[in-house]
Amino acid sequence: MERTFLMVKPDGVQRGLVGRIIGRFEDKGFGLIAGKLVQVTEAQAKRHYAEHEGKPFFDELVGFITSGPVFAMVWEGDDIITLSRMVIGKTKVTEALPGTIRGDFAAHTPFNLIHGSDGVESAEREIANFFAPQELVPYTRSVSSWI
Ligand code: GTP
Ligand code: MG
Repeated sequence: MERTFLMVKPDGVQRGLVGRIIGRFEDKGFGLIAGKLVQVTEAQAKRHYAEHEGKPFFDELVGFITSGPVFAMVWEGDDIITLSRMVIGKTKVTEALPGTIRGDFAAHTPFNLIHGSDGVESAEREIANFFAPQELVPYTRSVSSWI
């Protein structure tokens, strides 16, 4: 079982897509173990996107992610890091296929609605940047043997 950090970005919150985005991951069979609305601080945004520091779009990215509240979540499931990124779709909207969240809802690349961790290490770091350990509520779901 893996954990990942998923975050509806400010565009998804403003557009009222939080419920439908959560539904995509519920439909896939993943387990939600933490979630909250957060106004991201600049320091927190820079930690979150540290791997992109120095790139030409870094300041724009930090500005975007701090421009309004996000919905931060922790989900768990087998191979969830890879599978959730498939549900999310490609970074560039011109490459995001229909059926993915970005393919169905996003029309311009920076406004791509949702973030998903890209590895086990980044997931751990990103979860710790947004949640205290006691905010995670793992539980056994009775349907898990059917998923
Ligand atoms: P995240 O889940 O947000 O991390 O997206 P990702 O993993 O699909 O993409 P990546 O980590 O490579 O980039 C992080 C974010 O930076 C993307 O979601 C985009 O919003 C933005 N980004 C990435 N590449 C570019 C680019 O070439 N130009 C611009 N303007 N933004 C970019
Ligand atoms: Mg990324």
